[in-house]
Amino acid sequence: MSNVPDLLVKDLHVAVEGKEILKGLSLEVNKGEVHALMGPNGSGKSTFANTLMGHPKYEVTSGDILFKGESILEMETDERSRAGLFMAFQYPVAIPGLTFASFLRAALNARLAPTGGEDGKMPTRKGIPPKEFRDMMRAQMKLLKMDDSFAMRYLNDGFSGGEKKRAEILQMAMLKPEIAIMDETDSGLDIDALRIVSEGVNTLAGPDLGVLVITHYNRILDYIKPHKVHVMIDGRIVTQGGPELALTLEERGYDWVREEVAAR
Ligand SMILES: Nc1ncnc2c1ncn2[C@@H]1O[C@H](COP(=O)(O)OP(=O)(O)O)[C@@H](O)[C@H]1O
Ligand SMILES: [Mg+2]
Repeated sequence: MSNVPDLLVKDLHVAVEGKEILKGLSLEVNKGEVHALMGPNGSGKSTFANTLMGHPKYEVTSGDILFKGESILEMETDERSRAGLFMAFQYPVAIPGLTFASFLRAALNARLAPTGGEDGKMPTRKGIPPKEFRDMMRAQMKLLKMDDSFAMRYLNDGFSGGEKKRAEILQMAMLKPEIAIMDETDSGLDIDALRIVSEGVNTLAGPDLGVLVITHYNRILDYIKPHKVHVMIDGRIVTQGGPELALTLEERGYDWVREEVAAR
């Protein structure tokens, strides 16, 4: 094992529309580890996820994000993906006429293509042979207990919240990233979404994958067993621990963390 962390976030400061949201966030995630990033609504969790993805609206004002020792700040979203970072929400919203299977194959080919191809275009030449792709997809869908018909549905067209999450998990299973970041929506679907994501993560987790699950849902331990739990308040991680920390949050909420931070 090398000493270079797979994902290293160093004192990250991020502004959105001129307002500082992340105020010195530091975090390390390695392959073989499952991390949970927790925090109340508005603490900056999605801002962090969007920044990792390379969303142009999120401006890194200082600090760095290193993936396998190299800064990714200047990389486009697709370059980050090819490098082995996976962000659960990186697929387009809804594309009627494009089946989920075609989308997956294009995504996989893009991931396999050498960097420096045609800008923004999904490569059509070479790529994974159709039969190999179908076999691989069937195997992954079986592993994830997904219905075969799912692959022939049009991308996100009428997908329920839960189906969108399943689509993300299948995409992750196919792309085989080294580090995956799963951001939860803060909607009413939250618990169902977290359950689906967690089942997927539990199935896919292993020595070759590191996962960061981002959630504001306190009862996370009902679904997933993170090695490490990080609590974020007001743009930075204020406390970290093992699964027992998630248990404390479930019992006592976030107020005690806020008080502890205020007393520092
Ligand atoms: N695209 C954006 N435009 C304006 N403000 C934003 C944007 N994204 C996040 N923010 C602001 O950043 C803060 C943190 O939000 P967010 O990152 O969504 O927190 P969380 O995911 O923890 O609920 C909020 O005050 C929110 O209003
Ligand atoms: Mg959020």
